[in-house]
Amino acid sequence: MTNIMNSKAFTEARKKAEEKVKELNLTEKIGQLSQFGTSIYTSEEKYFEDHFAEGKIGAYLTIIGAEKTNKVQKDLVDASRLHIPALFGDDVIHGFNTTFPTPLAQSCSWNPEVVRRGCEVAAKEAYRSGIKWTFSPMVDIARDPRWGRVVEGYGEDTYLCSRMSEAAVKGYQGEGETLEKDHVFACMKHFIGYGAAIGGRDYNSAEISDQHLHDVYLPPFAAGIEAGAATVMTAFEDINGTPATANKYILKDILRDELGFEGMVVSDAGATSELTHHGFAENEDDAAIKAFNAGCDMSMQLMGDYYNHGLPVGINEGRVSIEDIDESVTRVLTLKYLCGIMDDPYTDESISNEAFSDDHMKATYDAAIECAVLLENDGILPVRNAKRIALIGALAGDEGKRNLLGPWAAHIDPEKTVTVEEGFRKALGESTEIVYSYGCSVADDGDENDDNTIAEAVKVALECDTVVCVVGETAGRSGEASSYANIHLPGNQEKLIDALVATGKKIILLVSSGRPVIMTNFNKKVSALMQVWQMGSMAGQAIADLVLGKVNPSGHLTLSHPRSEGQIPIYYNHYNTGRPLYKTDRWKTCYRDLESSPLYPFGYGLSYTSFEYSDIKLSATEMAEDGEIEVSLNVKNTGDCDGAAVVQMYIRDLVGCRVRPVKELKGFAKVWLKAGEEQKVTLRLPASSLAFHDFYMNKIVEPGKFKLWIAESATDNRYEFDFIVK
Ligand code: BGC
Repeated sequence: MTNIMNSKAFTEARKKAEEKVKELNLTEKIGQLSQFGTSIYTSEEKYFEDHFAEGKIGAYLTIIGAEKTNKVQKDLVDASRLHIPALFGDDVIHGFNTTFPTPLAQSCSWNPEVVRRGCEVAAKEAYRSGIKWTFSPMVDIARDPRWGRVVEGYGEDTYLCSRMSEAAVKGYQGEGETLEKDHVFACMKHFIGYGAAIGGRDYNSAEISDQHLHDVYLPPFAAGIEAGAATVMTAFEDINGTPATANKYILKDILRDELGFEGMVVSDAGATSELTHHGFAENEDDAAIKAFNAGCDMSMQLMGDYYNHGLPVGINEGRVSIEDIDESVTRVLTLKYLCGIMDDPYTDESISNEAFSDDHMKATYDAAIECAVLLENDGILPVRNAKRIALIGALAGDEGKRNLLGPWAAHIDPEKTVTVEEGFRKALGESTEIVYSYGCSVADDGDENDDNTIAEAVKVALECDTVVCVVGETAGRSGEASSYANIHLPGNQEKLIDALVATGKKIILLVSSGRPVIMTNFNKKVSALMQVWQMGSMAGQAIADLVLGKVNPSGHLTLSHPRSEGQIPIYYNHYNTGRPLYKTDRWKTCYRDLESSPLYPFGYGLSYTSFEYSDIKLSATEMAEDGEIEVSLNVKNTGDCDGAAVVQMYIRDLVGCRVRPVKELKGFAKVWLKAGEEQKVTLRLPASSLAFHDFYMNKIVEPGKFKLWIAESATDNRYEFDFIVK
């Protein structure tokens, strides 16, 4: 498929860039490789005006607004000799102003269109605010919910993450041949293995075998690059002892040579200078030289000026080649031509970015209703005919305004958030009385008044026929630098749940969090349990409509929910071991004090209706190493309300030259069906999708026997088939 990186427009932009490079002096060239801006750590906005005349700025980050970016751009362009504009980048992670569900929540929709549309809307708002480049999507595979950044990615599975990755790139960049109006360059991050931080501690080292790197962590990047992603960001951590930002093996051998990436590589913020902290560089100049030589084209810097300072030193010492500098500058300028700023560097200030417009709010609502995952339901949901609803929880009221938006929401407007309380009131009008009660604080240490507010909540619950309680995490409890060893509900929230359960009322519990929290203490005590994540500007409306059955929950988990922190990491596609996992017997791969399975598995999610899979057929039971099997089935909505089935296709390679995962997702389809409706679904299984890397790093499709399951979750074994690769 043609995209902006393999189009005629790209070739032309590259040609122009190659010509332009010849006009730049060394200082101006290195300036193109330097990005400056606002520090997320201090929020101090700096433009580095003293760099303008010499042309020492290539890009900015986190400076936004059409008027502001135009002003800075004009000052820079006017002051510099060659009038080359800067590329303005920003962390547009799940929405720009109008906030969408977090990426983790979006992945639970199992609907790439949700991701694509969210990125498209975000791109439009950002573009009209002066931004041409987003530092998103994050496609780090993450299997440790203690790591705060699980919220920014698409879960634990390589296949699912890859599909979301390409959808995000298409949403941000559009599907044309050049970066059109209302679109921004995507940035696949963090290359690579950041999600494998040991112990889930942010920025920590990662130890990843080459096979695992290629089979588990690389495909989502490959998929995004295939879809035309223009940029890639390095990661903070070291992989097997070499920092990712100065790792020639990953940045050149893998990214350039194996994946054929033609775009631009930017460091993570300050990651070049951090090479000194890693003990990988002697000083900041040495760090700049090492990062650049390893393949990091541009240095994103918040405090220092590493490339402008360090690369001339590298040239003088003969450690950096001018040819390499020219190539990196050409990549940067190619993007500048491709997005049109070389011809027109300014943003039209007269058009609205449509933030919070009806259309954008509808888009985020449509996304949100697909993201919630129903985990338990004894039949109490959906709520119908309630006369008096007790709505309990700090996050259900005003504290939800900011917190339901999740982390990485820099340009949001919490006042625009529809809270859960507002959502219920709007959905029910005057017909049902809603009594709100705060419950308790969601802060880590709780609040000294919690006992009183819990007592009040109990009183309210006793006076109502229906009890809905929202618990969870604040927005700041996940995201960057928000790793936690304890991922139980913060503060006294479990105490609140126990007190409500003790009333004898049936409790409908909704969990709004950036990660799977430990639910073992309460999941079976409540009548219904729904994971509602942090679903953005329309969260409250979506939550009310889901609880009231106006829409049917259709989300399925993309991260296994652990029973306790001690069980982490836990993920569905593990190896079998010589003493298989998940058999609770002393001489097996298990803990003696904990059941081995997760509390809720990958792929799991309930609905208000039921689905029947029938007539499942494989087009063949044998295929060649370059062949393909088609799996077709009939999916029927057998319940009495409309809903969506998430059909999942898993395989297992039974005997391999390296041990193979017990299951691997290889296909899925989300199918919306009216009550009673049925539909034929076909999933493709190309033999190439069974490939993995052998001990010697050959990518192979190995002949042999395979199992295949059509399933509703990773632990659903009802529909099992055999096939052979010859
Ligand atoms: C994060 C990146 C982000 C960058 C710019 C870093 O701290 O790791 O994901 O894009 O800051 O804000």
